[in-house]
Amino acid sequence: MSADDYDRFADDYEAENATSLLNACYERPAVLDLVGDVQGRRILDAGCGSGPLAAELVARGADVTGFDGSPAMIDLARRRLGGTVPLTVHDLAEPLPYEDESYDVVVASLVLHYLEDWDGPLAELRRVLRPGGRLVASVNHPFAQVLNAPEDDYFKTRLYSEDVELNGQTTELTFWHRPLREVVRAVTDAGLDLRVLDEPGPSKDTPPELMPPRIASGERSAFFCFLFVVAERPGVVH
Ligand SMILES: C[S@@+](CC[C@H](N)C(=O)[O-])C[C@H]1O[C@@H](n2cnc3c(N)ncnc32)[C@H](O)[C@@H]1O
Repeated sequence: MSADDYDRFADDYEAENATSLLNACYERPAVLDLVGDVQGRRILDAGCGSGPLAAELVARGADVTGFDGSPAMIDLARRRLGGTVPLTVHDLAEPLPYEDESYDVVVASLVLHYLEDWDGPLAELRRVLRPGGRLVASVNHPFAQVLNAPEDDYFKTRLYSEDVELNGQTTELTFWHRPLREVVRAVTDAGLDLRVLDEPGPSKDTPPELMPPRIASGERSAFFCFLFVVAERPGVVH
């Protein structure tokens, strides 16, 4: 799986992302909570897809820039965001086309798990953050692999695949698994201070028909799906 793959099912993914439990009621609200007050903040949306998070950040008063590796996803984002957000087709694995220290916040929502190497991309995300600025990232939770693929080596950074159904079509998505210690190492080696590792549950606003029954009943508060990371570029806050 890479950004190219999103070109094949951009419309179906956008539709799924708009209303699904995992995106609309869990991942996006969790990222927005972790980002906090964005009024007047300069935010880079790395791997912005069709722009649902960018749209929400703009609505909350942020000054947002976005990029994604998939031209089809960027086309959808342009349609959604009009001229409000500068958008670029760009690969997160390559050096970023942005000035040093030009953002208060970088959001990287469900994109880093497509990359084998995090060291170069995280160094670039740190470079474009101002001192005191924060990276808010979400990735597939590594412990989900322990549950879903107990025969595979949890401690190895390796590729794995999952079948996802989009609009009645089954699509194989491929991700890079990395153990939690490797997530933490990559973040800290990039010169970022780890502030939060979070495992929230779905939003309280999740429609009842989408809420997992064991969470609705109070038996559980969350499920293994995504891991949320907040890391700060150290330095003097201007
Ligand atoms: C699961 S979608 C998430 C999109 C968006 N962040 C959201 O939350 O709605 C993953 C996105 O990452 C993009 N992507 C995958 N690999 C990438 C890469 N190497 N560079 C930039 N974007 C990439 C895909 O094109 C896709 O739009």
